[in-house]
Amino acid sequence: MIDKIKSYLEDIASANPSGADELESFRLKYLSKKGIIPELFDEFRNVPADLKKEVGQKLNELKQKAQEKYNSVKRSLITEVSSVSEIDLTKPAFPYPEGTRHPISIVRRELIGIFSRIGFTVSEGPEIEDDNHVFTKLNFAPEHPARDMQDTFYIYRISPEESNPGDILLRTHTSSVQVRVMENQKPPIRTISPGRVFRNEAISARAHCIFHQIEGLYIDENVSFADLKQTLSFFAAELLGRDTKIRLRPSYFPFTEPSAEMDVSCTICGGKGCNVCKYTGWLELLGCGMVHPNVLEACNIDSKKYTGFAFGMGIERAAMLKYQVNDLRLYFENDLRFLEQFRTAL
Ligand code: PHE
Repeated sequence: MIDKIKSYLEDIASANPSGADELESFRLKYLSKKGIIPELFDEFRNVPADLKKEVGQKLNELKQKAQEKYNSVKRSLITEVSSVSEIDLTKPAFPYPEGTRHPISIVRRELIGIFSRIGFTVSEGPEIEDDNHVFTKLNFAPEHPARDMQDTFYIYRISPEESNPGDILLRTHTSSVQVRVMENQKPPIRTISPGRVFRNEAISARAHCIFHQIEGLYIDENVSFADLKQTLSFFAAELLGRDTKIRLRPSYFPFTEPSAEMDVSCTICGGKGCNVCKYTGWLELLGCGMVHPNVLEACNIDSKKYTGFAFGMGIERAAMLKYQVNDLRLYFENDLRFLEQFRTAL
């Protein structure tokens, strides 16, 4: 038996398994349960007592050598794989595919950026509002057509007998947020209120029942129409470019007096006339005016001491002028082919 072991020892010393398959055969041959070495240990029981010590030592040596060989080849295989392999395990994993911001978010952020640079804060308020904040405190007469179900989504109406604050509805403009600001803050007030608004309109390329607005409010002593005009002309130049001209046309809103609508020179033809501006050279952008004294008084602001201006625009409208996308519905459909065109760092 001792000779057998010696010859195995030689075999093992000269064995040079290359690759994982050969190493596995080596293990099966010598070390596995039915391999040579466990078999020899079985036979060891029959070795005469006087030889046990010598054979035992050799057998242990054999087992140890086989195991060492196996371990060292295995180690070299592992290092070989990672050094030769083209996989660099230290590299970062694949990045997640990046989404894009929605064009309305892009324009909303841009509008907020422009007004915050000239000192406007951002105020937000509830989308579900009461009549008081959407209409009454903004000087809408009780019979004003904007209260009609045609324009407003009512959540419920409270019967006139009940001594309740009034109807609950989805806000039709974010002027309601400005009422809340006036109720809670003392002038000077300089704030913009971006948000979703709701109107009961049939959906078409030009109208939607949900859209977004940004409205601005500035109240202090001696605020004049000239301040309004200068603020808006700065805003138009920032949003649409230095050469943009503005024009104010008289208009009507219950909560401002005087009221105006602001046009900007056409973003396509620069004012020469084209089919986008219907050959007028102008595109309508927003409504504005001097805050009506009744509105100030309804919010406990002294209208003898303070004056203010307000303006409001649709964010979709601003996006249309900026991107020349003239079908409102595209902003709501979430079609990736549309949205992916607005890749931006913002
Ligand atoms: N609230 C008006 C609207 O929704 C816009 C506006 C705001 C007009 C402030 C004048 C002053 O159309």
